[in-house]
Amino acid sequence: MDLNEVIEKRQSVRAFKSDPVPKALIKEILEKAVRAPSWANTQPWEFVIAGGKTMEELRKACEQAAMTGTPMAPDIAPPAGFPEPFDTRRRAVGKKMFDVLGIPREDKEKRMMWGMLGFKFFDAPNAIFILTDRSFYHQGDNLNAWPLFDCGLVAQNILLLATDRGLGTIPEIQAVMFPGVLRKMLNIPDSKLILLGIALGYPDGDNLANKIRSEREPVDNIASWHGF
Ligand SMILES: Cc1cc2nc3c(=O)[nH]c(=O)nc-3n(C[C@H](O)[C@H](O)[C@H](O)COP(=O)(O)O)c2cc1C
Repeated sequence: MDLNEVIEKRQSVRAFKSDPVPKALIKEILEKAVRAPSWANTQPWEFVIAGGKTMEELRKACEQAAMTGTPMAPDIAPPAGFPEPFDTRRRAVGKKMFDVLGIPREDKEKRMMWGMLGFKFFDAPNAIFILTDRSFYHQGDNLNAWPLFDCGLVAQNILLLATDRGLGTIPEIQAVMFPGVLRKMLNIPDSKLILLGIALGYPDGDNLANKIRSEREPVDNIASWHGF
């Protein structure tokens, strides 16, 4: 696919077919994705990939943790708040999602059940977790944000490459809300921070959840040009 087409086509997929993604295909995607740039070529990313029985056990364990109110403590804290204009944008995509799904505001139960799906990786057959080294991020009293930036670049490569190969993806903070569960089941040491999970699989194209098209701010509102 042409790059423009891939970028246009990539969207967060929240409903998947059960067919697993072949290991060789995931490996090929990762091998290409790591051509992402990074600070002085430090390549601060590592990957943990789940599939098969492990994925099913992980799904159950994360769902169970969410259902039983296990405290959410991702390694990288979520935003403490959403100042404007971010709150408006965040609300807009949430509203669009529930409008497309046809779940009204009053139907708290259905909204809650929908929200739970993210903890079970939206039933995707595979997940890729992106890790970075704790010692590179926590430096004394300071946080070095650049490994996170670099991991974002590699993450986007994964999303685009997967889209190009007909796969669906969603980057998910919900996938890493219970790092204790992930550490135990995927044998991830404390020295590694678990940044993000990417649920991966073949999209269920008919599902309404995949018909959500998120908006973007027009470039004229966010770019200023000088010297042209
Ligand atoms: C770092 C990150 C974490 C995200 N976490 C979640 C999540 O936990 N659950 C979810 O449904 N979507 C999650 N998303 C997807 C965003 O909601 C989505 O990217 C955004 O609404 C734009 O939509 P699009 O990806 O379809 O273009 C996450 C995206 C990013 C980049």
